Amino acid sequence: MAYTYTLGIESTAHTLGIGIMANDTVLADVRYMYEPESGGIHPADAAQHHTHHAQSALFAALQEADLSITDLSAIAFAQGPGLGPCLDVGAVMARTLALSLDIPLIGVNHPLAHIAIGLWTTGLTDPIVVYVSGGNSQLLALSHQQYRVFGETLDVPIGNALDKFARTTGIPHPGGPEIERKAQNGSQLIQLPYVVKGMDFSFSGLLTQVQRKYQEGYAITDLCYSFQEYTFAMLVEATERALAFLEKDSVLLVGGVGANQRLCDMFTTMCRERGAQFVACPMTYAVDNGVMIAYLGWLQYCNAETTSLAASTTDPHWRSDEVTVTW
Ligand code: ATP
Ligand code: FE2
Repeated sequence: MAYTYTLGIESTAHTLGIGIMANDTVLADVRYMYEPESGGIHPADAAQHHTHHAQSALFAALQEADLSITDLSAIAFAQGPGLGPCLDVGAVMARTLALSLDIPLIGVNHPLAHIAIGLWTTGLTDPIVVYVSGGNSQLLALSHQQYRVFGETLDVPIGNALDKFARTTGIPHPGGPEIERKAQNGSQLIQLPYVVKGMDFSFSGLLTQVQRKYQEGYAITDLCYSFQEYTFAMLVEATERALAFLEKDSVLLVGGVGANQRLCDMFTTMCRERGAQFVACPMTYAVDNGVMIAYLGWLQYCNAETTSLAASTTDPHWRSDEVTVTW
């Protein structure tokens, strides 16, 4: 059987990732992660980081896959959403490769790539998807060939709130893992705003409060613990409502915040009580990576969904619910 060798380029934010797949088998997974010297992600610096590593990432991926560049069948890239300067690095790379090799170019929606790889790794087919990361916090489900957003943050994404709180307290970026560690030593639940509106939720008021309480001298461990308990409870409540409303029987957790064990435990409890199945995308593929772009690129390639040069402009605000799902 002839294989389709799809190369996927992820460059929406902090990670430059290149994945290569032979149909749906992973051959290479190369990642270079930008770490800001101070504060959060500086888009221009991150883009410079991706440009700097582009060539070595490509060669490393080809070597890992044991392929030569002319073996490639298609080039997929994350076309949006994300940070404009970072997206453009991946797009320029992808266009250059596709043009010079004369093979199809495939623009991929980054959130849908998170979902597609989550379905592939967990075997779920029709779950409520909880997508929680630095740039997104959404509850999605497939309906009439589109991943509809049934609930989402009304302001900041949860990962962004965690990272901003971390910055206030001197915890290095990204803050989620260290907040999780500190939370394990917290015990006192500090009262914070709890905002769920239907299946939407809000974290910005809570973030302001927790930052204020840190300045007032509350223990960092209790603040981390309370931050997690409140925000995760909001996510679980909204998800439970979505499960009931849409009559689904499974929940898939994707995105970097899904690495949090406490969040997984809370989802496990809620789903067990409802008789639903809960699965989190394995950590390796929950965070940004090139394999998920290659995988969705391959699915789109199989359905002849390629992207012309004229249509390959990146879109920092491209929403997942604007895409018709054929896979
Ligand atoms: P996207 O572009 O899809 O929004 P992203 O650029 O934010 O993704 P991810 O790697 O999916 O990248 O997610 C990173 C986020 O995950 C950061 O906000 C980080 O703090 C958070 N995170 C990572 N590990 C943990 C953890 N153990 N607990 C809570 N949050 C975590
Ligand atoms: Fe992501």
